[in-house]
Amino acid sequence: MTDIHCHVLPGIDDGSRSVEMSLEMLRELKSQGVDRVIATPHFYPTRNSPERFLRNRQEAYERLMNETDDSCPEISLGAEVMYFEGISRYEGLEDFKAEGTDVILLEMPFVPWTSRAIDEVMRLGTMNGIDLVLAHIERYFEYVKKHVWEDFSGNGILMQANAESILDRKLRRRVLRMIKKGTISFVGTDSHNMSGRAPNIAPAFDEIGRTAGKEAYDRLIRLQERYFGGASE
Ligand SMILES: [Fe+2]
Repeated sequence: MTDIHCHVLPGIDDGSRSVEMSLEMLRELKSQGVDRVIATPHFYPTRNSPERFLRNRQEAYERLMNETDDSCPEISLGAEVMYFEGISRYEGLEDFKAEGTDVILLEMPFVPWTSRAIDEVMRLGTMNGIDLVLAHIERYFEYVKKHVWEDFSGNGILMQANAESILDRKLRRRVLRMIKKGTISFVGTDSHNMSGRAPNIAPAFDEIGRTAGKEAYDRLIRLQERYFGGASE
């Protein structure tokens, strides 16, 4: 099992605060059956230069890797890139793909999306050489008309839900339905720490198996391998 969305690198964003916390998160993930984690720190292009972000990410990764052992899953580098107008023309996007993959994990703003933004996501999602994954789409349900998810899905845009949405009383039915239908292709933890946003992938996948069924569960695992399998090579 791969956790494709995780703020496990220490001291780089609002995720793990220290190497110790990162190790706790990694061990918890491993105990829940995760053997590979894609570390996806936030990249805010309007606040941070790409060079600085990539340098900080590398430093945080090395600090952590000095302390990891067999009790931890493998770690690959990725990023959670905040959308900005013009992102589909940004030539540096390549550097933000998850290591060994074509995946860009894109975070959208937490306001109603403009039609211009929707068009641009669509453009980005249909570009060659990019597998676009929209992060935690359940956090945008209130901002986006339902048909948009279907339109995205129909155009090959991939969508990720957070494990917590499957454990949430209000969200779970809709998210499970979208998993079953194939609109949602990934479930990641988006874990930030060991308290309020701790790793919770095992209970979420248990619930998926129970409610959405084995076929839906197996499909999610297969897609992790298909899109992120290269991350460990
Ligand atoms: Fe995140």
